[in-house]
Amino acid sequence: MDFLCRSIKDGSYRIYQDWGLLDNATSIVNAHQMRGPFFIISDDRVFRIYGKRLIQALSPASTFHFLVRPGETSKSLANWKHIQDFFLQKGADRRSIVVAFGGGVIGDLAGFAASTYMRGLDLIQIPTTVLSQSDSSIGAKVAVNHPQAKNLIGSFYQPKLVLTDPALLATLPQREFAAGLGEAIKYGVIADKELFNTLDEHIQEILSYNKEFLNQLILRCISIKIRVVEEDERETGLRKILNFGHTVGHALEQATHYRRFRHGEAVAWGMLAAGRIAIGRGMWDRAEFERLQSIIRRAGSLYPLGRLKPSQVLVSMKHDKKKVGKKLTFVLPEETGKVTLVSDITEEEIKESLRYIFSLDPKKTGRIN
Ligand SMILES: NC(=O)c1ccc[n+]([C@@H]2O[C@H](COP(=O)([O-])OP(=O)(O)OC[C@H]3O[C@@H](n4cnc5c(N)ncnc54)[C@H](O)[C@@H]3O)[C@@H](O)[C@H]2O)c1
Repeated sequence: MDFLCRSIKDGSYRIYQDWGLLDNATSIVNAHQMRGPFFIISDDRVFRIYGKRLIQALSPASTFHFLVRPGETSKSLANWKHIQDFFLQKGADRRSIVVAFGGGVIGDLAGFAASTYMRGLDLIQIPTTVLSQSDSSIGAKVAVNHPQAKNLIGSFYQPKLVLTDPALLATLPQREFAAGLGEAIKYGVIADKELFNTLDEHIQEILSYNKEFLNQLILRCISIKIRVVEEDERETGLRKILNFGHTVGHALEQATHYRRFRHGEAVAWGMLAAGRIAIGRGMWDRAEFERLQSIIRRAGSLYPLGRLKPSQVLVSMKHDKKKVGKKLTFVLPEETGKVTLVSDITEEEIKESLRYIFSLDPKKTGRIN
């Protein structure tokens, strides 16, 4: 299956999704007249498992690769600089094509590096996690983190192609798989009640890596994301709904220096905090909120909050780059499949929602189910 994501300034790109697509990458890349050389940016783990297959798929074109350590801390300015040096040393020029091969960390880092070198090299995204296949590889946002705020340094940069192969998810560690489902569940709440119902009824099949359900999940998320970013690529309006769960989620990540939580885990906690504010205001049905909580728990997307304190999360929220003036904007559900932006949330409501999520945390290591 393939989709077109229309973008402003003629930056439209195609997203191909198919089981086993990695091994057929050559035909798609050739059909798009992309001959290389290819500069693959990946992380050690992904490249160890799939690197040879990717190089094989791109042959006979010449390839170079640059690997970072797996994890959020690699999304740094230091790595951005190392990648620019690598491009320079290997003689990258305007014909060179950057291949972001990995999860959302690699997509964001490699995309940002591609966007700056010689004012922009062509970019192919090959996402390898649930989160990156269902969300981050589409929409053109690329960035690295600043120690004080996530994704602070970045830009909008459209790939030329996105190649999505859900078969690659087979090797994802269980924690990463469950964390990625956090963002996928988000799509059910913000835009698709049917998806929400499917997740509720079939989360077990998805967790068991059922090909049909997994394929459908990724496809539905891709089409929602395309719909949202086509209407509002620059996040001046509709795209903000994608931030459901992110106000508290980003603060959890920042307060723990991006080391404790996977992004999807932080978003899962953040969705529970936002949902709690919504039902506190009488905006959303309590039974639906409980359903959300049940899906998130069964998906295994919550990671213990540990020694973190609500007050630390609150401080981090004050650094949120989406804060306009002194107000924090929250995305809150009005009904399942429909959310709205609310910017008059009081500090007391935020504190209450934090107390609530902390009350759910059994403060022990291991998963919360
Ligand atoms: N640009 C956007 O629009 C956007 C949207 C949402 C999230 N994000 C960003 O995405 C990042 C999180 O991405 P992520 O959850 O994909 O994490 P990730 O990129 O850190 O990958 C998670 C882990 O899984 C491993 N891995 C990846 N694919 C694998 C595979 N197929 N088999 C085995 N192991 C594999 C990686 O080595 C890594 O350790 C965050 O930085 C977040 O800010 C960006």
